[in-house]
Amino acid sequence: MKKRLGIISILVLLFIGFLINWTYSYYKGLEEAYIPIGDVKEIPIIPSEKKVFERAEYALDYLNMPRDENHQRTLETYYDNRAYPGAPPSIPHPVKEKLGMGGNVCLQCHQNGGFVEKFNAYAPVTPHPEMVNCKQCHAEQQTQTLFAANNFYKKSAPEVGNNNALPGSPPAIPHQLQMRENCLSCHAGPAAVKELWVDHPERVNCRQCHVPLKQEIENVELFVRTNTNTQ
Ligand code: HEC
Ligand code: HEC
Ligand code: HEC
Ligand code: HEC
Repeated sequence: MKKRLGIISILVLLFIGFLINWTYSYYKGLEEAYIPIGDVKEIPIIPSEKKVFERAEYALDYLNMPRDENHQRTLETYYDNRAYPGAPPSIPHPVKEKLGMGGNVCLQCHQNGGFVEKFNAYAPVTPHPEMVNCKQCHAEQQTQTLFAANNFYKKSAPEVGNNNALPGSPPAIPHQLQMRENCLSCHAGPAAVKELWVDHPERVNCRQCHVPLKQEIENVELFVRTNTNTQ
């Protein structure tokens, strides 16, 4: 009798063990294989590619944002405001302080974008918030027409929508990377140009899949001035 009880209790223990194990692995299996993109910062990053991740924390917001069809920019208006592709755009709106660098005043709207009631448009996000002397490169628009006739012609921009090697493969980057390291600032969010708007902003490591089209384009690293006062 004792022997039989012993065997039965071993079986019961084994069965309980099985149940615990099974339940544990069942619920583990239900958990999502999810790697939070917030941890991206801890992964060692190649310095010249660091800026790709600068706006990564907003990637999921961009993904879940509804598209505001009534206030989207088009490539045509985008190029209209540039002397040539890649040139600093002029400031198309009035600026209060005529003197000064801009800096913080401009960053109020251009650091993270957002809808600006009085201009009835979304503020484009600047890819270079660290370059605080904004008006060194961005000038206020003075006139819509030329001051005088001249023979300057606008270089045509790289083609869009035809940079894939195969249908469905990631298109190569048709533009230079200097001043364009921070992909999400131009390719995602409500101020992004309609034709350049990307449906996968959450894949933050853009250059893992998109390579420059022209391999001779040199990737110039971001220049950072060291503080000479501390020496
Ligand atoms: C009150 C918010 C606000 C402030 C402050 C502001 N901007 Fe803007 N900016 C906008 C909006 C909105 C647009 C988009 C206008 C449009 O699309 O019609 C814009 C457009 C621009 C553009 C054109 C971008 C492009 O892709 O064509 C430049 C350049 C610019 N601003 C520079 C500046 C600078 C430099 C300053 C500081 C002197 C500044 N802005 C201050 C809201 C602002
Ligand atoms: C060293 C020159 C320089 C400085 C300083 C500078 N920018 Fe720019 N900015 C550029 C150039 C060049 C482009 C165009 C980049 C391109 O199209 O490849 C640009 C583009 C932009 C754009 C449009 C991005 C887009 O959608 O194409 C905005 C907005 C902008 N800058 C805002 C600012 C603000 C705000 C500041 C100050 C905090 C500033 N910039 C400082 C040169 C500069
Ligand atoms: C200053 C704004 C800006 C930044 C920053 C930028 N791009 Fe672009 N991108 C453009 C514009 C404008 C075009 C359209 C072609 C042109 O005028 O250069 C374009 C075109 C492209 C295209 C071609 C799309 C197609 O359908 O053919 C790809 C791919 C691309 N960019 C990827 C990137 C990646 C990856 C990064 C980051 C390393 C990046 N871009 C950063 C403005 C930008
Ligand atoms: C895992 C690979 C991968 C990553 C990472 C990736 N892309 Fe793409 N991308 C693709 C593929 C594949 C396509 C082509 C989709 C198609 O043709 O339907 C594409 C298309 C595009 C286009 C053309 C417009 C469109 O949506 O079809 C742009 C612009 C673009 N990607 C920009 C970006 C930017 C900016 C990032 C970083 C935030 C990025 N991509 C990250 C694979 C990737």
